Amino acid sequence: MRNRTILCFLFIGIFLHTTRADEGMWLPQLLSVLNESRMKSLGMKISAKDIYNTNTGSLKDAVVSFGGFCTGAVISSNGLVLTNHHCGFDAIQNHSTLDKNYIRDGFWAQTRADEIPNPGLFVTFIVRIDDVSREALRGLSPSMTESERQGLIDKNLAELTKNVKKESGQESFTRGFFEGNQYYLFVTETYRDVRLVGAPPSQIGNFGKDTDNWVWPRHTGDFSLFRIYASRDNKPAEYAPDNVPYTPKKSFDISMDGVEPGDFTFVFGFPGRTMQYLHSEAVRQILEVSDPAKIGIRERALKILDGFMREDEQVKIQYAAKYAGIQNSYKKWQGEVLGLNRAGAVGKKQKYEALFQQRVDADAGFRQRYGSLLNELSKGYESYEPYGLASDYYLEIISKIEMFTIASQLNSLVTAFEKGGENGYRQRLPVVKSNLENILGEFSGKVDRRMFEELMDMYVQQPGGYVSPLLKERLKAAGGNYINLSLTLYGQTSLFDMDQLNSLFARSAGETVEAIRRFEAVQLFVDLQKTYQSLVQSPSAEIQNRINRLQRDYMQAQLEVMKEKKFYPDANRTLRVTFGQVQGYSARNAVQYHYYTDLDGVMEKYKPGDYEFDVPEKLRALHAAKDFGPYGSEGVMPVCFIATNHTTGGNSGSPALDARGNLIGLNFDRAWEGTMSDIHYDASICRNIMVDIRYVLFIIDKYAGAGHLIREMKLVHPKKGPKKKKSKAGL
Ligand code: ARG
Ligand code: GLU
Repeated sequence: MRNRTILCFLFIGIFLHTTRADEGMWLPQLLSVLNESRMKSLGMKISAKDIYNTNTGSLKDAVVSFGGFCTGAVISSNGLVLTNHHCGFDAIQNHSTLDKNYIRDGFWAQTRADEIPNPGLFVTFIVRIDDVSREALRGLSPSMTESERQGLIDKNLAELTKNVKKESGQESFTRGFFEGNQYYLFVTETYRDVRLVGAPPSQIGNFGKDTDNWVWPRHTGDFSLFRIYASRDNKPAEYAPDNVPYTPKKSFDISMDGVEPGDFTFVFGFPGRTMQYLHSEAVRQILEVSDPAKIGIRERALKILDGFMREDEQVKIQYAAKYAGIQNSYKKWQGEVLGLNRAGAVGKKQKYEALFQQRVDADAGFRQRYGSLLNELSKGYESYEPYGLASDYYLEIISKIEMFTIASQLNSLVTAFEKGGENGYRQRLPVVKSNLENILGEFSGKVDRRMFEELMDMYVQQPGGYVSPLLKERLKAAGGNYINLSLTLYGQTSLFDMDQLNSLFARSAGETVEAIRRFEAVQLFVDLQKTYQSLVQSPSAEIQNRINRLQRDYMQAQLEVMKEKKFYPDANRTLRVTFGQVQGYSARNAVQYHYYTDLDGVMEKYKPGDYEFDVPEKLRALHAAKDFGPYGSEGVMPVCFIATNHTTGGNSGSPALDARGNLIGLNFDRAWEGTMSDIHYDASICRNIMVDIRYVLFIIDKYAGAGHLIREMKLVHPKKGPKKKKSKAGL
């Protein structure tokens, strides 16, 4: 018996150790308490205070949320911001036409006056992060329903936000952490005049496209440059021609010295969403049900888009960003399934749950509060399964058919009118107009019609049969033929023409609303939505609430029961630090990956004329002449490298920093075998992919001839500096 216990503990020790490694997306204000010593033991040479400090400028002041979906790094005292090419892509695309094609040819502003404004684009700085859990959770009682609980929290937070100390031009928001067990307040500063400064051609910025996406070894120069503009007193301001370049509190110094295996690195950014603390049953459903369904739907959508894009250059420009977006998750989910399977993630979760249960059972207090938790959670997820699948079908399909996006915009006017009368309608109208302009600016009727015809078929065939009655009726009237049905729907051409829509909006609110109600596409959309609400959302709301409550309790319970484990909250688009080391990995049996790639590798992949692997002539010439300027060393021009930093979507454009906080790279992806790290991180195979900052500088300077931008930056030699000479062998 004793032996068994010892063995068991040994096993537990190993298990906890391997799962912990250096996973984690940590809150910057808690680094000094939770992580500093570990970071230093891995090689960090600065202190947690250099990273996050609200009294003086610290590294956090050089990190921005880029547009709310990516991250950016401030790299000059004139507000120059570095982010990924794929993060800036929408802006690049918006300014591209058939004859000024910045997607194809790149763009470089020669002077400040050439920098292009981007209405709607913004960057957000984090001024301060406060723990407001006590205030947020004040007055809660265990007997409250989920909606009562949320109501009170919202009220508490609204009260709190009213009295937040902040300067003019600053804003704030609050967010729940650890499934709503803790709350933090973020004081922010958002700049809304962000101009495009430079972007390489896609053959560099998106080299390898979809084939290489999510894959190592990688050879992509995935970066673009923007500049923040501010009012004359350096405050946030709407776009104005006489705004001036923003002077940041802090900007990153750029290391010219590159990386070696074992080097400490950390990544500072805004990771979007992870699910590290799910019950094993939820992980099983992602793996076996949800991911496969979503992959199947996107596969069909991508095939349609690809066909049209290959044959029509105009469609190719219009749909490039949409295609990349759909493809991106489509491919990631496949990697996720592979990784979860290979890592035996469900089994590992079950073992962890068994240990948790054992500890709970061994303690009367825990047993009383948490004894039945896991069992109930598992039952909750089981009963949610069909609804989850139906949601996947509905959301995946409806969002791919832009006729429904348009219908939904128009229908929001009807709702606004019904709720708020003429006034409500007038308030909503400008938003709808601008959204419709955006949608229709990149819309092709023939493409969307085909999407409708094929994806609606998938919707009708969905396993649970949660299908709109109106759709069935219309389909029947069309002889069961989707092409006939789409002919009618897309035949109402005024729905897809901004001029005609504008003349519709010129009529009185009442008349416009009447006309909107008569569009068949709107009627169909309303019925699809209603069906989804009544057959899927309402009946599952109670289960969903139960799961939320149980996951929250389970999170709290883990914090209490698994005392030896350090917990970090799931990603939720707030500022985080993740750290690790530069390191190759063993991908599978007999396959060992090196930690960096270089320009020779670009040339190895080069396929003249190919859609994904063509290389611009000038880059080939620079390579042939080994003309790398000060950016390459010993005839090698580094391109990308990998490390063990735990990142996710939203971390794109995040600065990758060295032991002293100098910029060494820009995060843009993860390696295929480890994309399951959103659910289950495994240090042996999870790697983030960064473009080497020296490649970025090389492209700006030697390829684009934009040396004036380099002169804005501060380049440093932390390793090769006069005093510090480190021998290679020593690492
Ligand atoms: N996989 C990266 C991310 O999740 C890069 C996506 C952009 N590149 C592409 N080929 N779609 O955003
Ligand atoms: N490319 C991702 C992004 O846009 C980052 C890669 C990841 O998911 O880790 O944020």
